[in-house]
Amino acid sequence: MCEIINKINEYKVIPVVTVKDIDKTLQQAKILSENGLPIMEITMRTDISMNALKEISKKYPDILIGAGTILTIEQAKQAIKYGAKFLVSPGFNKKLVKYCIKHNIIIIPGCVTPTEIEMALNCNISVIKFFPAELSGGVNMIKALSAPYNNISFIPTGGINLSNLKDYLSIKKVLACGGSFMIDDDLEKSKKIINDTQKIISEI
Ligand code: 3PG
Repeated sequence: MCEIINKINEYKVIPVVTVKDIDKTLQQAKILSENGLPIMEITMRTDISMNALKEISKKYPDILIGAGTILTIEQAKQAIKYGAKFLVSPGFNKKLVKYCIKHNIIIIPGCVTPTEIEMALNCNISVIKFFPAELSGGVNMIKALSAPYNNISFIPTGGINLSNLKDYLSIKKVLACGGSFMIDDDLEKSKKIINDTQKIISEI
């Protein structure tokens, strides 16, 4: 496994942020950095997301930052230029995956079915985002998929929160869990959730 994937595995979670306000996102980044969870995925779902990514990677180089909701090669190029260390896509986009592999870019594509997983395997991808996790069968589906595909690692995301995080992280083949639940507009609340998340991780 590469260094970045190892780091994600060490942190066990990927806090996912959709940027509505760059200053607020910078404050949220600071909180993650200061509270022992320097990892963040910025989804490319708003006009200001790319700039937020650029600012955070400049101001918080300690944060392992990724870009999510990458749908096109253009977005991938720009996100890497702005400092993203890994890319995440909601589905399996063959063109995007091939581009990333060719350029040595870490891409974690979304796959939830055996067919999609085999598409990933055919591209030598062994770490996938299982999205949307809860709606796609959750913990039981991952366990079922792990049987035939024991060389695949999952990053379930979508519907994960403090009450089901432990169930997901307890599965051997789950590398980490993604979720927006760790980042709240209320910064004090974020701190508490990060703390509670870390407690759960320490119990695994
Ligand atoms: C993502 O794109 O990874 C999801 O929107 C995060 O899902 P969540 O908000 O249910 O955690």
